Amino acid sequence: MKPTTPLDTDIAAILGPSFTGPLDPLLRRMALAENEIDAAKKRHPEHAMALHDAFLALQPSDVILRSGPDKLYPLHCHELLERAVHAVHLSGWREEQLRIQVERWMFTAMAVPSLPEREHWETVFREKHEDEVSWFQERAAISLQLIANTGVAKTASIVDVGAGASRLVDGLLAAGYRDLLVVDLAEAALAKARARLKERASEVRWLVRDVTTWVPEERFDVWHDRALFHFMVHPEDREAYLTTLRRALSVGGHAIFATFASDGPESCSGMPVQRYEPETLAQALGADFHLVESVRDAHVTPANKVQSFQYSRFERVR
Ligand SMILES: C[S@@+](CC[C@H](N)C(=O)[O-])C[C@H]1O[C@@H](n2cnc3c(N)ncnc32)[C@H](O)[C@@H]1O
Repeated sequence: MKPTTPLDTDIAAILGPSFTGPLDPLLRRMALAENEIDAAKKRHPEHAMALHDAFLALQPSDVILRSGPDKLYPLHCHELLERAVHAVHLSGWREEQLRIQVERWMFTAMAVPSLPEREHWETVFREKHEDEVSWFQERAAISLQLIANTGVAKTASIVDVGAGASRLVDGLLAAGYRDLLVVDLAEAALAKARARLKERASEVRWLVRDVTTWVPEERFDVWHDRALFHFMVHPEDREAYLTTLRRALSVGGHAIFATFASDGPESCSGMPVQRYEPETLAQALGADFHLVESVRDAHVTPANKVQSFQYSRFERVR
């Protein structure tokens, strides 16, 4: 990477010396974005300010910091602008509404995971019934018990990451927990869970995000993850996941992880996994997390295979 313009120098400083990826596609994409914005402002001078504000999110530093140099997703400028302009025409939105909505679209576009990974999970949830996937559980009994063991109040904020179409959320609602966020990178997975819950779905918040790039804007009392963290087989993905975890979980909060145990399968859904024992998981999480209890589970898949899981509950101590 050879910085040649002030913009290049800017980006080079943000990326740091370890970035060796191609810079050209990024610069081209940003130039395109700027042209799009200028053109849109000319077409809609009455919305120039709103469009300008909304597209500040396209600043190179933002894009890179939010998505990471390895994950420079297409920004879909065309699509975003078309949607924005449509919204103005069709619904007569005020500038403020437009600005907020476009920011939301921008953020979603940046936060979506790399397409092959996302496509994989979308396809799984689109093509298979809830009870046709190996990780299906009729009732998330161990997770519910471990969450109860934390002793948190029913008003505690609980996030289930990589939740898929899991019935944990049904169990939590039935148990009276009221502040629930369900996160997954596959929209199809969340759609399944929402459909199952019918009108109760509106009592839950749903969010399509890649946990490795998600920037949570609030703190939770309980973080739950069954069978997501073990897919983080690359150190940089683990580190990104843990950055999100540390940002999301209050000190004194509880983190519950279910992963394949050391005698469990080496892959799931065609992808390699990292197997853990409670102690090795504790090492991976680092000194901020204190292991409180662990449980072993011989999970029986819908195809009648036994998979060895370990569940561990941690307290965040600092
Ligand atoms: C094996 S499934 C487990 C689903 C659920 N936790 C359960 O126990 O039924 C793994 C889930 O993680 C989701 N996932 C994979 N990578 C992810 C990522 N980077 N961020 C958020 N979710 C992810 C998948 O879409 C899938 O729903």
